[in-house]
Amino acid sequence: MRALTLASVAALVFVGGPILLSVSSVPAHAEATGVVKERIESMKAMKTAMKIAGPMVKGVMTYDAAEVKKAAETIAAHSGEATTKLFPEGSFDLESDALQEIWDEWPRFEKLAKDTQTKALALAAFSAEQSKAESSFEALNKSCKACHRAFKD
Ligand code: HEC
Repeated sequence: MRALTLASVAALVFVGGPILLSVSSVPAHAEATGVVKERIESMKAMKTAMKIAGPMVKGVMTYDAAEVKKAAETIAAHSGEATTKLFPEGSFDLESDALQEIWDEWPRFEKLAKDTQTKALALAAFSAEQSKAESSFEALNKSCKACHRAFKD
């Protein structure tokens, strides 16, 4: 559950206003603390890495195999057990988008975390070849979304 911050209320009222909408995303986790804050930082690190690798594998940016490999390894380091250890049972606060189903369906959550790591390692392994890296990247992207669809508000 996400607390309605003043900014998000403003965004709801003025929906369609691009400036307010962009402002609303900034303070969303201003109050997250402890393990919730840690996992949000970890998720953000994965997102940053995806934003480096994505444009490169798609050819929007000049392909740099070393950068793609580095991004994939960053994701591998933040996934699998590195993800699951940041979700101790019942850990959510008002700023968290984590759903209770995580702990009700823990083996499935664990598997999705592990899948993401496997896919990230595959991207690292295929980074030398852009076309293979592109399909690995798509598979990795799907694995992030699969978990978010099931377990993130
Ligand atoms: C095993 C499940 C799982 C996997 C796999 C996963 N996520 Fe997440 N992600 C979550 C959950 C749950 C949250 C909400 C955490 C919270 O708010 O407490 C989240 C939140 C996020 C957020 C929001 C952070 C914020 O600012 O609130 C981003 C960005 C994100 N994930 C990116 C990724 C990316 C990129 C990948 C794949 C490389 C990924 N995630 C893989 C479960 C997962």
